[in-house]
Amino acid sequence: MTLRLSAQQIAEAARLLQAGQLVAFGTETVYGLGADATNSRAVAAIYQAKGRPSFNPLICHYATAEAAFADVRASGMARALATHFWPGPLTLVLPRAVDCPVSELAAAGLATLAVRVPAPAAARSLIAAVGRPLAAPSANPSGKISPTTAQHVIDGLGGKIAAVLDTGPCLVGLESTVLDLSGAAPCLLRPGGVPVEAIEALIGPVGRAHDHGAPKSPGQLLSHYAPNLPLRLDAVAIAPHEALLAFGPAPTGARLVFNLSEAGDLAEAASRLFEGLRWLDREAARGGFTGLAAMPIPGHGLGAAIRDRLARAAHDGKF
Ligand code: TXA
Ligand code: MG
Repeated sequence: MTLRLSAQQIAEAARLLQAGQLVAFGTETVYGLGADATNSRAVAAIYQAKGRPSFNPLICHYATAEAAFADVRASGMARALATHFWPGPLTLVLPRAVDCPVSELAAAGLATLAVRVPAPAAARSLIAAVGRPLAAPSANPSGKISPTTAQHVIDGLGGKIAAVLDTGPCLVGLESTVLDLSGAAPCLLRPGGVPVEAIEALIGPVGRAHDHGAPKSPGQLLSHYAPNLPLRLDAVAIAPHEALLAFGPAPTGARLVFNLSEAGDLAEAASRLFEGLRWLDREAARGGFTGLAAMPIPGHGLGAAIRDRLARAAHDGKF
C-alpha cells in the first residue's frame, strides 16, 4: 500500500506505527524503514524485513532536538551542532540517558544511541503524530542500494512492510553524516549529507574512524550498496563491455551512460547517486554489458560521502 501525502495519511501511517507495524517514509537523505523505537518487537521486525545483521544498531529519529536530547546525554558540542544542522542530515552518537525508553535492540545493546532530526516537515509530523522516536535504517534489503523514492522501497521490501509514506524523491540522496560524540574527541563514523568540513568549521578538528580493529560503527561493513554487476572505480577510460557512471563531461566511446552531474556539481551528483546506480545496473544487464565503471569524483564536501558509497558498492573498501 502506498500512502499519498495528506494529514489523514500521516495520521494513518502514525496509527500503523503505534500498532507496532513497519512504515517506510522519506527523509531528506534516503527513505527510512520506520518502527516505534520503544517497541522491541517492532524493532525486531525491521531487522527481519531487511535481513540485517542484528549487531548493527539503528538511528532514532525525533521531531525536535529537545525530544532527542531527552533520550541521550547531550554535551554542549552536541547542542551547538544541533542548533546549526538540525533539522538536517547529521546523526549524533551520544551516551544513552539513564531513563532512555528506546529498545535495547534498536541500539544493538550499545551504551550509546544515534539520534537525528530529519529535515522534511512530513517526516517530523509523522514522528510527532506517533509520539515516540522512530528507529529507521535505510529502507532497503541489507547490503543493497539505498532507496531514494517510494518505488525503490516497494521494489526491495514490498510485501514485507505495512506501508510506504510517499514523500517524493529524497533531496540529498545519500545518508546522514554519523558523528560519534560519546568519546573524548568527536569522531566521524560515516561521511554523509553534511560535509565534515562544515562540522569542523563549527567545532574544530574531527577524528576519523579507522577500518582496522573492531568497527566503531558496525554498519560500516565493506560490502554495501551493492549493484549486481562489478563496479570499477576512478575510471578515466571506458572498456567496450562497461556501462559508465559519469561525473562531468563523459569520455567518448561510452555506449551506456548515467551522468551524475554533467556540470560537475557534487550536490546534484549525491542526489542522483543511488538512482543512477540502480538504473545503470539494470540497463547494463539488459544490454549485455558485464561491468560498471565510475569516473573519478573529487574528495571534498559531499564528494567524500559519494566516494565512500562507491567504494562500498565496488566491494574493495578503498578508493
Ligand atoms: O540518512 C540516514 O541516516 C538514513 C535515514 C533513514 O535517516 N538512515 C540510515 O540508517 O542510513 P542505517 O541504519 O542504514 O545506518 C545507520 C548507521 C550505521 O552505520 C550504524 O552502524 C550507525 O549508523 N550507528 C547507529 N547507531 C550507532 C551507535 N550507537 N554507535 C555507532 N554507530 C551507530
Ligand atoms: Mg543503510
